[in-house]
Amino acid sequence: MSNLFEGSTFCIHTFGCQMNKHDSERVAGMLEGLGALPVDTIEEADIVAFMTCCVREAADTRLYGQVASMKNISVREGSPFNKRLIAVGGCIGQRDGAKLTDELPHLDVVFGTHNLGSLPALLTAAAQEGGHRVEVLDAADDFSSSLPTDRENAWAAWLPITVGCNNFCTYCIVPYVRGREKSRTLEDIAQEAQGYVDAGVKEITLLGQNVNSYGRDLYGEPRFAEVLDAVDATGIERLRFATSHPKDLTDEVIARFGTLRSLMPALHLPVQSGSNRILKAMNRRYTREHYLDLVKKLRAVVPDIALSTDIIVGFPGETEEDFLETYRLVEEVGYNQVFTFIYSKREGTPAASMEDDTPREVIQERFDRLVDLVQRKAFEANQDEQGSVVPVLVEGTSKRDTSILAGRSPKNQTVHAPLPAGVEIDELIGTTVSVKVDEARTWYLSGTVVNEDA
Ligand code: 5AD
Ligand code: SF4
Repeated sequence: MSNLFEGSTFCIHTFGCQMNKHDSERVAGMLEGLGALPVDTIEEADIVAFMTCCVREAADTRLYGQVASMKNISVREGSPFNKRLIAVGGCIGQRDGAKLTDELPHLDVVFGTHNLGSLPALLTAAAQEGGHRVEVLDAADDFSSSLPTDRENAWAAWLPITVGCNNFCTYCIVPYVRGREKSRTLEDIAQEAQGYVDAGVKEITLLGQNVNSYGRDLYGEPRFAEVLDAVDATGIERLRFATSHPKDLTDEVIARFGTLRSLMPALHLPVQSGSNRILKAMNRRYTREHYLDLVKKLRAVVPDIALSTDIIVGFPGETEEDFLETYRLVEEVGYNQVFTFIYSKREGTPAASMEDDTPREVIQERFDRLVDLVQRKAFEANQDEQGSVVPVLVEGTSKRDTSILAGRSPKNQTVHAPLPAGVEIDELIGTTVSVKVDEARTWYLSGTVVNEDA
């Protein structure tokens, strides 16, 4: 099989969440394993794979448009194939299956979230015999962890500990396209983590739709705190995780922020709304009071923990009073970062059939008000860093200025600093340097390197 792909090129377009980005690393690993070479643009690529997201409508329609626009794209000179191969995977692949090839006849391969590993065989069949190859499974037999991976960065790794979701928040399509929650064994996770540490990885981010319920399917009770202990014990420098559901965040896990050396003082804790009425309609199964209590407990353990969240504005039936509850909650918590979304109706979810009569302009106005507040609070939260020295894990240079190094603080803030004289960025990527913060902006800190190995 490998001869077929030898000398071919591929590019992957990834939409959506970290789980998708991780899946893309697996797809890249498999294609490279077949002898294909990664390239940056569709023009240079013989194989174009889209790893798709359908959480909101915008990415959904964009995918159909993007594939449609490739209809007349000719084969690359030097390509081993007689046509440009296009594959769609991820959440839209899972949801739409053959509907994709019906609407987009020039699309060759569709695969789903449960069968990444089938891609090489599907591409081979499409290349050799032509026609549409569509394979979507209802559930996974195994974890994709057995597949090869080509990680985006040598110093950072995403490590899925669960896939799927059992929560059925009423607005969300994820449980329908990623299936029921399935956990990997503790041993399997610890082994993969140790492998990364031995290979020089500095930061591991544990992934799952709701990491806090990790283990319930395997062990009858959540054992996420033990996952944290096991990964910390590998000697990893920095440990993070996403995403946490407030209803399942336990005191045990909160306590780990105070005891585990590697666990970074930052937590993404999606609140979605500050109104109890809306939280109930969303089927979130916690109250505003419970959420604020979690924040209090977290701050009792790590007083300056950086908190981030997701908020949906304009859920069906949201009133101005409901919105103000959200607004006040954001004011009270003082998040470092808030990802704000306008509610997007997803067919097949319970919220899609709820009455939704708030005018678009009203929702947009609430959204704009919230974004203003979020920016103001993020700016305020960053001011604490002014004058302090922070350890920065260097990721590369600033996009706009290659003489400025860019990396992350423990709180996951982006930090910029001029590259020290005579130092090449390649020497610093993946290392930790100390930066004295001279200026704290809304979305980043800027400062000066005071020591090259913190
Ligand atoms: N509309 C808007 N935002 C949504 N999210 C999930 N589903 C929807 C939807 N239908 C948001 C939630 C979630 C984040 C990943 O995307 O805030 O936490
Ligand atoms: Fe969607 Fe809720 Fe599951 Fe998150 S917890 S993936 S919002 S259903």
